[in-house]
Amino acid sequence: MRPLQARIDLDALRDNYRLACERAPGASAMAVLKANAYGHGAVSCARALAPLAPAMALASLEEGRELRAAGIDCPLVLLEGFFEADEIDEAVDNGYWCVLHSHWQVEALLVALRARPGRRPPVLIKCDSGMHRLGFFPDEARSVCRRLMAHPDVGRCTLMTHFATADTADDAQLRHQMAVVEALRVDLDMPACFANSPATLSAPRSHAEWVRPGIMLYGANPLERDHPDHDRFASRLRPVMTLESRVIAVRELGVGEPVGYGARFVTERPTRVGVVACGYGDGYDRHAPDGTPVLVNGQRTGLIGRISMDMLTVDLSDIPGADVGARVTLWGRDENGGHLAVDEVARWCDTIPYTLLTGVLPRVPRRYYHHHDDEHGGDDSSRTP
Ligand SMILES: Cc1ncc(COP(=O)(O)O)c(C=O)c1O
Repeated sequence: MRPLQARIDLDALRDNYRLACERAPGASAMAVLKANAYGHGAVSCARALAPLAPAMALASLEEGRELRAAGIDCPLVLLEGFFEADEIDEAVDNGYWCVLHSHWQVEALLVALRARPGRRPPVLIKCDSGMHRLGFFPDEARSVCRRLMAHPDVGRCTLMTHFATADTADDAQLRHQMAVVEALRVDLDMPACFANSPATLSAPRSHAEWVRPGIMLYGANPLERDHPDHDRFASRLRPVMTLESRVIAVRELGVGEPVGYGARFVTERPTRVGVVACGYGDGYDRHAPDGTPVLVNGQRTGLIGRISMDMLTVDLSDIPGADVGARVTLWGRDENGGHLAVDEVARWCDTIPYTLLTGVLPRVPRRYYHHHDDEHGGDDSSRTP
C-alpha cells in the first residue's frame, strides 16, 4: 500500500473545540465544518463533535446532505445561505439555518414560507460591517432585521457579520466592524453571531450569543505571528491532522548533481536524497521551496528539488540511519512526539494553513484516532469514530 496517509486525531479536535468554548464562556460555539471539515473529513469530525456542538456551519446544502445522511441531526448553518430558491424547502424542512445576505434571498424565503406557513425557520441576517464580501450594509441590515423579526413565518433572527482582520495585530478595522454591529445589536435587541477563530480566542467583546470557530478546531493558530495573543494559545491548540508518509528510495549523489524536475536544486555537497511518497497530486503545495521543513524519523530536515505529482525529495545527509521505509512527517505530530506545525509549512509555501489542510486530496486516506490510540482506519464516509 502507498504509505501516505492523513492521521486525524479526534481527541485533539474535541480539545480544540473545548478551548473555543472556554474562551467564549457565555456563547454557544457552532463548529465550522465546511470544505470537508477543512480537509479532515466532515462526517467523522461531525460525529466526534456532535455530543459537544449545538450547531455546525457549512458552505452548502450539498455538504449538509452528507452529514444528514450520516445521522448528524443538529442545526446546520449555511454560511452563504441557499444559492437558488429551489433549495429553500429542503433547507427549512431539514433543520438548516440559512444566512441571508442578499435581498433576493429574503424575498425568495418569504415566498417559500408563505406557501407553507407555520415552519418558522431560524435565520441569520448578515451585515456587511466592513469586509465588503457578503451582507447588507448596516442601514439595510437594520430594516431587514426589523422586517423579519416581525414576520409571522420567520423564526429566531440572529445578527451576523464576518471580520476581515481579526487575526492581525492591527485592530483598527476589527474595532470599526465591532462598533458597527454592536450598535445594531443593541438597537435591535437581538441575538448575534460575529466571531471567527481569531476573534473567539482574542476578542471577547465580539462573542455575543454564538461564536463560529473554524481553523482553530483543526489546531492551526488563527492569529498572525505578531498578534499579541499569538503565543498565548499556541501550546493549547493541538494539531489534528498529521500528514505522513515514508521514504521509498534513496540516492547517493556527488557534488553538482541536479535533483528533480527543472533541476531546480543542485547538490553543493555529497548528498543522500530520500524520495518520499507524497506530491502535488495529493495536495502537497507545489510551490514549497528548497528547505521547507519535514521530519524524517522525528528529525528535522528540508525538501530539495521541485515537488512532483506523486513524490517529493528530501535531504537525508544529516539523518544517519534514515533509509527506505523511514517515516516522514510532512506536518503534524510524529510518533516520537515531534511536531511540525502546518502553520510553519504554510509560511514556507507563502500560503496559509487553510489552503494546505483543505488541499489534501481525496486519494490520501484519512485514518481516525481517538481515546488513547484507538484507531479507525480508512475512508471517512464509512467509519464511526
Ligand atoms: C462566514 C464564516 N464564518 C466563520 C468562518 C470560520 O473562520 P475561521 O476558520 O477563520 O475560524 C468562516 C471561514 O472562512 C466564514 O467564512
